[in-house]
Amino acid sequence: MRLKDKVAIITGSASGIGEATAIKFAAEGAKVVVCDVNQAGVDKVVAALVAGGADAVGFVVDVTKTDTIAAMVAAVKEKYNRIDVLVNNAGIVMDAQLFKMSEDQFDRVIDVNLKGVYNCTKAVVDTMIAQNSGVILNASSVVGVYGNFGQSNYAASKFGVIGFVKTWAKELGKKGIRANAVCPGFVATPILNDMPEKVIQAMEEKVPMRRLAQPSEIASVYAFLASDEASYINGAAIEVTGGLTL
Ligand SMILES: NC(=O)c1ccc[n+]([C@@H]2O[C@H](COP(=O)([O-])OP(=O)(O)OC[C@H]3O[C@@H](n4cnc5c(N)ncnc54)[C@H](O)[C@@H]3O)[C@@H](O)[C@H]2O)c1
Repeated sequence: MRLKDKVAIITGSASGIGEATAIKFAAEGAKVVVCDVNQAGVDKVVAALVAGGADAVGFVVDVTKTDTIAAMVAAVKEKYNRIDVLVNNAGIVMDAQLFKMSEDQFDRVIDVNLKGVYNCTKAVVDTMIAQNSGVILNASSVVGVYGNFGQSNYAASKFGVIGFVKTWAKELGKKGIRANAVCPGFVATPILNDMPEKVIQAMEEKVPMRRLAQPSEIASVYAFLASDEASYINGAAIEVTGGLTL
């Protein structure tokens, strides 16, 4: 068990990659804090984890609302007295080509995907500094390295979270804290629901493995990066694409 007794907060963990990460972390022995705007999803994931014998708690947290983050962090510290891992996984898409993109589409995606990562990390960093240990993991994307048609807002947010980990690696490395980003290719989750089928097929054809990733294949990378096995990986943006970009 590579994460035995580590306290891990995972945002956006009611669905998709976040849910798979919660399941993987629990299997690796972590105490899992499930956070999402979706109350029913939080309840479902926590119930499944607890039924499987895990130590898990859930909170309705909106990463754009600092009061909900602060309440969750206070409750986690009260219950577990430490925070070992933060997975900044919550994210949304609101796609449009630049010439059609509204200010609201731009602002909302930046608010959740970029400022939300800042908000959550800011809320835990003092605790990690006091412990002299911690791991911060950000959900970037292949789009955060190469850009993508129709995703100015999303690409900017995902480039931005790589900027965070490179900066935090420099600022926090000497305080025992590692920060890394994961850049998945296309993963079979509800976030792709609005993507046209022909675009998904085109993506699959570009991948040498000829398929999308499963959420568990991204969760495994988060588990490795959260574990002490990754003790010298800091400030990295790890592509997990099945070879999409080759
Ligand atoms: N699926 C992909 O192809 C893919 C590829 C690269 C990166 N990612 C990134 O992985 C992360 C997870 O995506 P997913 O594919 O599992 O999507 P998903 O839609 O299945 O899950 C995202 C979760 O985030 C939650 N969420 C949305 N806004 C929130 C907010 N303001 N506060 C808290 N929670 C909020 C949603 O309720 C949902 O449960 C995202 O950051 C996404 O950008 C996904």
